[in-house]
Amino acid sequence: MNDILILAGRLAVVAGAVLLLCLPLIIPQGRVNRFAWTTRFLSYDGKPPRYRGKKRFNQYLRRLRFHSRIPLEEWQRQKPTLEVLFKKKIYAIKEGKTVRDVDVFLVQEKLPKFIPWDDSYMEEGRRFAIGEGYMGKAVWDVKSLPHGLVAGASGGGKTTILRCIAHQAIAKKWNVSIFDFKGGGDFSDVERESAEYHDLGDGYGSLIISDPKKASQLLTALVVEARGRAEKFKEAGVRDIDEYNASGKMPFVPWLVVVDEAAEILDVKPTDKAEKELYTEINQSLRTLARVSRATGITLLLGFIRPSADVLDGQIKNNLLFRCCGYFSDPAASRIVLDNDRATELPPEVKGRFIIGEEEAQAYYLPARAEDQAKAPGRD
Ligand SMILES: Nc1ncnc2c1ncn2[C@@H]1O[C@H](COP(=O)(O)OP(=O)(O)O)[C@@H](O)[C@H]1O
Ligand SMILES: [Mg+2]
Repeated sequence: MNDILILAGRLAVVAGAVLLLCLPLIIPQGRVNRFAWTTRFLSYDGKPPRYRGKKRFNQYLRRLRFHSRIPLEEWQRQKPTLEVLFKKKIYAIKEGKTVRDVDVFLVQEKLPKFIPWDDSYMEEGRRFAIGEGYMGKAVWDVKSLPHGLVAGASGGGKTTILRCIAHQAIAKKWNVSIFDFKGGGDFSDVERESAEYHDLGDGYGSLIISDPKKASQLLTALVVEARGRAEKFKEAGVRDIDEYNASGKMPFVPWLVVVDEAAEILDVKPTDKAEKELYTEINQSLRTLARVSRATGITLLLGFIRPSADVLDGQIKNNLLFRCCGYFSDPAASRIVLDNDRATELPPEVKGRFIIGEEEAQAYYLPARAEDQAKAPGRD
């Protein structure tokens, strides 16, 4: 009799422990079930999603995992309702380890509104650090995405991104050319940095180009350069500049061409024939470069407010594979850049907040002049 009591006691303890251990699964599952049955959020076999636990994903996000046969699109449609259920903003809903796993990422902590640039953020090789994102550091890998496009409303932080990338390219001893037709000193520190090796009389010309004629000349020269490089790669039997430079031959220097407010050379109403020819030539050269320079280490980076088809030729745009897009209230504008509406979901008041690649990120802030860092806006 005693033995039975002891056994029953032990069983009760084990059952209690199991119950306690399962409680974190059972309680949310109950809420999910209630939600699923009332909103008919069920898979075709009539089952609600099965909760599989939560995990701190990083500083910003918590990941809830579900087992579910409900299609991902259906989850995405339910996002606003799910946010009410979880009492948290949802950053993203993604497919998990298998097709049947759905990961819901809840925002635990918002991204900072201001991250001053620091040279320790630099990346190795042909990679640029752009900012800090919900899913981790936002990095542009030029090798896999050869050319870039930064878009967004005026004052959103486009020039700042271009400047930060130019700064890194200069530190990597790349050859850098910046087309800046506004000439408001946006690149003055960057210009000073480059002067150290840029003005050595090696024929690269000045860092900043603000005259369309000079821009056209440089682009024409770059087309020749790109073709020459491609020829050399073919002879050497290599695919790109990295392989060529690793082969022990005299290395080619990567070349970054930044065009801030590119509409100023791509969307001009020419007043005479000479001007018409000039801008046609610029357009042609950019088009050719975008197409042929992918592997050659000549990288284009264009800034635009709204790169619609009448401003940016589709053929050029299709070759600008790396995309950064700031807030747009108009979904059509977001779609031009990202092929989705995500730029409309960015917080409009935050400067430097972009969809970078696939993820929302806060771009690093590198001021035009170092002395402006201290009085930078939003710093607290
Ligand atoms: N990454 C950033 N973080 C914080 N503030 C920024 C950032 N980028 C830009 N800003 C603020 O916004 C202003 C406009 O930035 P700018 O790069 O000139 O925008 P755009 O080129 O899109 O007009 C800057 O002077 C700065 O005050
Ligand atoms: Mg600007």
